[in-house]
Amino acid sequence: MKKIYLLLLFITALLANDKVHTYAKNEECKVCHTTIYDEFYTSMHANSIPQKDPIHNAVWQKHPHNKKLQRYSCGKCHTPAANNLDKMLTKGQKALPESKNVTHTEGISCAYCHRIKSIELHKKTNTNMITNTPKTYFGTRKESLESPFHSIASDGNEIFKNGNVCIGCHSHKQNKFGLNVCSTNIDNQMDQANCVSCHMPQIKGSVSNLSNTKTHAFHGFSGSHFHSDMLTQYVDLSILRNIEHFYVNIDNRTSHALLLHPLRVAVLKVSVTRGAKTTPLENQVFVRVIGKDGKPAMPWTADTTIKDTMIQANEKRSIKYDFKLQKGDRVDVVLGWYLVNPKAVKKLNLENETIATEFHLFKKQSFTF
Ligand code: HEC
Ligand code: HEC
Ligand code: HEC
Ligand code: HEC
Ligand code: HEC
Repeated sequence: MKKIYLLLLFITALLANDKVHTYAKNEECKVCHTTIYDEFYTSMHANSIPQKDPIHNAVWQKHPHNKKLQRYSCGKCHTPAANNLDKMLTKGQKALPESKNVTHTEGISCAYCHRIKSIELHKKTNTNMITNTPKTYFGTRKESLESPFHSIASDGNEIFKNGNVCIGCHSHKQNKFGLNVCSTNIDNQMDQANCVSCHMPQIKGSVSNLSNTKTHAFHGFSGSHFHSDMLTQYVDLSILRNIEHFYVNIDNRTSHALLLHPLRVAVLKVSVTRGAKTTPLENQVFVRVIGKDGKPAMPWTADTTIKDTMIQANEKRSIKYDFKLQKGDRVDVVLGWYLVNPKAVKKLNLENETIATEFHLFKKQSFTF
């Protein structure tokens, strides 16, 4: 009986996330891929455990899997290279994120991501399938040199080019009530753009120290925490002036909603300067609130979306201001966000964490009439 039980546990672990593999350490890539390595350490992929991310930590502290079960089920996406991933994903086991375990602190590690062979689609969360060949990495360069340290999968892997390598973790996450806590529109590839081309553009600097390529794929993964300046080109701000009022237009030319995580709040701040006087107009807030019984709730108790004013994929949103513009007026438009909804900051004990409380300026533009 015990044997059958163990076998069942083993099978559930397999189904939950492929299986546990051993990965080369990030440190091992540093000598040759120094630029890419340094960039990676400015990204959230290198900070994906609670000990390195105060916002993740705040939510994890309140999560029932921490308080009651002591099982870091988040590891499927937050520490996918963990040497005890099977425990993290198996009911009844205990496994917490550890600040002294490199396989945890490396986050979404280099070798992990570069060994993703395919993605299995599932209802609750997708699953990354990993190659069994340890030192063979997928990439997209056809003209690559041979690497003295590892092999490069000769057939390449289309998913590194079309962005599907990202959707094992980023597509969606459903809670036990069937609510999608967050989801990214993964079908919509517009104008040849995809997750990789937008978030990992080719920038100056060589792929490795052994070659001298002009560019390499940016590994800082521009997003809502860091390097958001690299994404401003995908969101246009403009003004339409009428006699009695004017409109500010936000044109989101992105294949997903402007912000994805339900903790986020985007804000549009508009002010008019006439001569020496500046008049701030009312702020506009864009947010998706999840909850239960009509009240906001944590992701593990929420069963519905109670409000959604977030700017959607490919949406052009017009906001009307009842303000009569005159010749010479200057309108300043600022679009930005709070990583944590100010209404949730106190509940999550994040009052003293600047990253959670500061306003993050994304794009600013002035229009003179
Ligand atoms: C299916 C994959 C997946 C699982 C499982 C998962 N996450 Fe995440 N998590 C993500 C992704 C992807 C992001 C980045 C989303 C974004 O920025 O929009 C993220 C971001 C977060 C953030 C925002 C962090 C910040 O700095 O703003 C928090 C908080 C978070 N996750 C908590 C958790 C907790 C707690 C668990 C486990 C109970 C968990 N996640 C399980 C994929 C996952
Ligand atoms: C001894 C040097 C060396 C080390 C160490 C090294 N690489 Fe490489 N790698 C190379 C060379 C050389 C290339 C070929 C690219 C080029 O033309 O410079 C390459 C190419 C790659 C590619 C691109 C494949 C393609 O065709 O697009 C990936 C992905 C990659 N390495 C991942 C890694 C990872 C992950 C590590 C650490 C676990 C690592 N490398 C460590 C030398 C190295
Ligand atoms: C193994 C799971 C996994 C894979 C694969 C993955 N991510 Fe992530 N990603 C995460 C998690 C988890 C976070 C959130 C980390 C945190 O905030 O603590 C995240 C965060 C991000 C962010 C937010 C950064 C910020 O500043 O807020 C961006 C952008 C991102 N990922 C892009 C990508 C892209 C592009 C790919 C594909 C090339 C990809 N991710 C593949 C798990 C993954
Ligand atoms: C056309 C360009 C474009 C494409 C395609 C695109 N993104 Fe984004 N992404 C953006 C922009 C613009 C933002 C918002 C600005 C920011 O977060 O810096 C963003 C934000 C994000 C964030 C942060 C959201 C948050 O709430 O913290 C994540 C994570 C992300 N994208 C992942 C992905 C993934 C995964 C894909 C592919 C399925 C993808 N993106 C496709 C442009 C793009
Ligand atoms: C979240 C997944 C992910 C992580 C983590 C990641 N990479 Fe990559 N990497 C990619 C993708 C996708 C590409 C292909 C980009 C392209 O062709 O535009 C790539 C491309 C590369 C290339 C070839 C660059 C080029 O311009 O062709 C090298 C080398 C590389 N990665 C090394 C690394 C190293 C070293 C690390 C860790 C410091 C790392 N990667 C972490 C997804 C990842």
